[in-house]
Amino acid sequence: MFGRRSNEPQTERRVTPARPAEPQTTVVAETRAPAAPPRAAAAPPPPPSPPPKRPDPAPETQRRHSEEYYDVKSTVFNALIDTIDLTQLSKLDAVAAREEIRDIVSEIIQIKNVVMSIAEQEELLEDICNDVLGYGPLEPLLARDDIADIMVNGANTTFIEVGGKVQKTGVRFADNQQLMNICQRIVSQVGRRVDESSPICDARLPDGSRVNVIAPPLAIDGPALTIRKFKKDRLKLEQLVKFGSITPEAKTILEIIGRVRCNVIISGGTGSGKTTLLNCLTGSIDHDERIITCEDSAELQLQQPHVVRLETRPPNLEGEGEIKMRDLIKNCLRMRPERIIVGEVRGPEAFDLLQAMNTGHDGSMGTLHANSPREALSRLESMIMMGGYALPIKTIREMICGSIDVIIQASRLRDGSRKITHVTEVLGMEEDTITLQNLVVYDITGEDAHGKLLGRHRSTGIVRPRFWERAEYYNETERLANALVRSEVADEQGNPLGDRNG
Ligand SMILES: Nc1ncnc2c1ncn2[C@@H]1O[C@H](COP(=O)(O)OP(=O)(O)OP(=O)(O)O)[C@@H](O)[C@H]1O
Ligand SMILES: [Mg+2]
Repeated sequence: MFGRRSNEPQTERRVTPARPAEPQTTVVAETRAPAAPPRAAAAPPPPPSPPPKRPDPAPETQRRHSEEYYDVKSTVFNALIDTIDLTQLSKLDAVAAREEIRDIVSEIIQIKNVVMSIAEQEELLEDICNDVLGYGPLEPLLARDDIADIMVNGANTTFIEVGGKVQKTGVRFADNQQLMNICQRIVSQVGRRVDESSPICDARLPDGSRVNVIAPPLAIDGPALTIRKFKKDRLKLEQLVKFGSITPEAKTILEIIGRVRCNVIISGGTGSGKTTLLNCLTGSIDHDERIITCEDSAELQLQQPHVVRLETRPPNLEGEGEIKMRDLIKNCLRMRPERIIVGEVRGPEAFDLLQAMNTGHDGSMGTLHANSPREALSRLESMIMMGGYALPIKTIREMICGSIDVIIQASRLRDGSRKITHVTEVLGMEEDTITLQNLVVYDITGEDAHGKLLGRHRSTGIVRPRFWERAEYYNETERLANALVRSEVADEQGNPLGDRNG
């Protein structure tokens, strides 16, 4: 059979897995050698292999194998490695390689007289294929479209987020070394390395999912791997309406904000839906605009024809070659952008983004981590100060006021639902304070018997937002006025509720 190495000499076998050109070999070799020193484990980064055919989603949330299963798996796995010619295997395409492994594993099970039900045998086959060809125990999780995040906290604990709720799964790795090997396989696909000497790494899966790895000694209980799953069909504003994250009227208001070139900051906590919302907002940008996106890990999927996508770069192993977000934004300004979209503002690049917004790049957008629009302002202030500018605080605030038109707040509520809780305008300064004006807010009104939060979006009674003139310029005033009026919610006496949040 093609993949077997039946009568090859022993020495040849040992050499084979170490060749960097064969994607699968390294992983298998490493999997078998948990005692290998971390340097050796990380040495030859395997090039990306075509994503293997993934099995159907399994209910791994409940699945937890017995110790016996793992013993059998390890016996069969070791016998497989002794039988199979990994060099030949790596030349096969993913489907054929899977078939080859299946055949051999079935034979090993028979020869070794392993007693297993058909279903168990199928599971074992699938598991082993995943280990040899793919991302091991992560495969069934990666195959599922309903998972937003996969969080692996060492070999024995894996959590997932589904429908806004975090839950523990039965997924488990043979040991931390196997997990580390899988992390290494993932990051090496984008030319990076993770080991004891460089234990923090950002990467991306071939499908675009965002990956972060932090390894021992920094992660005390074994490698921590976090994957933000890439959604093939990014959510659109219509879907956010369907999920109740916003109302149809608020959707119209957001579309207008995006179209009329307001400068926007999207604020929110971790995983609250900032990037999703930013992506949605870019959907309203006209197709004749030149857009430049700057991201740490490219997640945005703009649909316009004239887009340049830029990505930051971490330093290499010698600590050189880092390209920071600031460098990208500065460079952007020399690329004749009409709009600049920054995936996430985390540091001194805030200054550059505000400057860009201030200097004729209307309609620029970015996200930042904050729990309210007011907090977003103080985060911006401190990020600018981090840049070492000796500017009086009032000047910084004036700069913020002159640059940002709208702050949109995204939140993940405690029932797991994601809402847009504020659409807020930056009005101006009153003495030393920036004044804000909410256009739309979300009020939580209660909780149903199943713990689902009840609430409603409402406009605050503002009929002429500050960006009215822009809306006029783009002929959007009628749509805007209608959406604002229809968002008003009356109290029991029929009077508009107005703004309680100031
Ligand atoms: N309104 C929504 N309703 C349901 N799911 C949503 C909503 N918005 C985003 N999601 C999902 O939540 C997950 C996190 O979204 P997203 O990546 O946009 O968050 P984020 O705030 O940018 O996270 P991070 O802080 O990690 O960058 C994704 O899987 C996304 O599809
Ligand atoms: Mg994000």
